[in-house]
Amino acid sequence: MIDIKAEIQQHPLPDHIAIIMDGNGRWAKQRGKLRVFGHENGTSAVKQIVEACTELGIKNLTLYAFSTENWKRPKLEVQTLMKLLISSLKKEMKNLHKNNIKLNSIGDIKTLPTKVFNELVDVIERTKNNTQMTLTIALSYGSRDELINTVKEISIKVKNNIILPNNIDESVINEHLYTHRLPDVDLLIRTSGEKRISNFLLWQIAYAELYFTDVLWPDFTKNDLYKSIRDYQQRERRFGKTSEQLK
Ligand code: FPP
Repeated sequence: MIDIKAEIQQHPLPDHIAIIMDGNGRWAKQRGKLRVFGHENGTSAVKQIVEACTELGIKNLTLYAFSTENWKRPKLEVQTLMKLLISSLKKEMKNLHKNNIKLNSIGDIKTLPTKVFNELVDVIERTKNNTQMTLTIALSYGSRDELINTVKEISIKVKNNIILPNNIDESVINEHLYTHRLPDVDLLIRTSGEKRISNFLLWQIAYAELYFTDVLWPDFTKNDLYKSIRDYQQRERRFGKTSEQLK
């Protein structure tokens, strides 16, 4: 049997992987359980995938954990997701640190319950000097919301003559996004068979390779991640150029 992990390491790795972790609800339903059971098991998949990315040497992993639209879900489900976030942060803090992982977040985190906000800020602060990988959790995140926020911030600077309208370019936009310290996404994965972007990193995935799999998030294993990276490595990324120009 070929060792897919060894094979991956012989080719350039994506610098930034982003994942839309979808299918927790359906996974639970298939087992006759409540949706929250799916989220609990989704958390175990998160742990596996963070570990796999660290082992491979991926520098940036961004996970879509809670969208601006997810606030509209039933109250119990929202509460459970928030509880899971607190307990995961508490439980995994030591592991993150041990593995030299820096925690980061994107989204309108001021809208999170105080307990979640405080725990998150605490772990971000405690891991801020780690260098092996940046793990970004998208929380109360929506790409349109992020873009609106960016336009507002730039407008204020224009009004105060800090930025000239003529000088607004891609780098100015990048600097004002929640993702300002992160490189563009190279590989975007979505689980559960849905083929949508769902308001995730619209600006940042401009040249990302998209990978869709039918596997439901709680079933997504290290091996599934390896398969997605191997698929990515076999694609030709042209960034608008021709194949000949790349040679
Ligand atoms: C989508 O499945 C998943 C979510 C909205 C939440 C993802 C959260 C976790 C995996 C757990 C906590 C995360 C961290 C970072 C510790 P869905 O509920 O939309 O599933 P469905 O489409 O089958 O209904």
